[in-house]
Amino acid sequence: MRDEHTQRWQQRYRESPPERMPWHREQPAETLVEAVRRGLLPKGVTIDLGCGTGTDLMYLAQQGYRVIGVDIATEPLCFARERFREAGLDIPLIQADARFLPFRDASIDLICDSGCFHSFAPEIRPMYARSVARVLKPGGILFMREFHADQPQPPEGGPYRLKLEEFFEVFTPHFRFLSVGEAYYHDLPPDRCRLHVLRLQRR
Ligand SMILES: C[S@@+](CC[C@H](N)C(=O)[O-])C[C@H]1O[C@@H](n2cnc3c(N)ncnc32)[C@H](O)[C@@H]1O
Repeated sequence: MRDEHTQRWQQRYRESPPERMPWHREQPAETLVEAVRRGLLPKGVTIDLGCGTGTDLMYLAQQGYRVIGVDIATEPLCFARERFREAGLDIPLIQADARFLPFRDASIDLICDSGCFHSFAPEIRPMYARSVARVLKPGGILFMREFHADQPQPPEGGPYRLKLEEFFEVFTPHFRFLSVGEAYYHDLPPDRCRLHVLRLQRR
């Protein structure tokens, strides 16, 4: 689907190489590591949705998760594929849109989303929620880390700074909210990086 959302991401990855993007990092997100350490994320078939350059995927694979990376853009997937090859990791990567996930109904145990959902404009958020709800098993987990509304919204639109109520509105029809927390996004300046950390369970 080549709408404005898709075009914005294609344009973004034309601006500079994936390894120069502000979200690229060599270490997995601390919030993800903490959640895995505490046993909050079921080990099973796992999608990293909007996986970018694949750092969290590598970490999850090393922790014994059966991971699949999904991203809408070609460039980060090519970059991730090369990293995995060098690391000797066999991790499937699929170019697909989170709104139209190419997986069977109720086939996935865990979906991790770090910074993908917050790029969705309000009118397309329900499509995302329906898509992830369709592919998750009942009881499956959606683990999200998205920008918080307690920071300035850039004038040009996304990435969106989200209020908790905006998550409730979109996800409550399909999910129970198991935990609602906050954290900071790796090495961005503190005034730009407050995050919601949410663990939702498919009803
Ligand atoms: C802010 S980056 C975060 C990348 C990675 N999760 C991380 O934490 O380093 C968001 C990623 O989501 C991807 N993305 C945006 N919209 C998407 C969609 N509709 N479907 C799949 N991926 C999408 C982008 O291409 C980008 O790689």
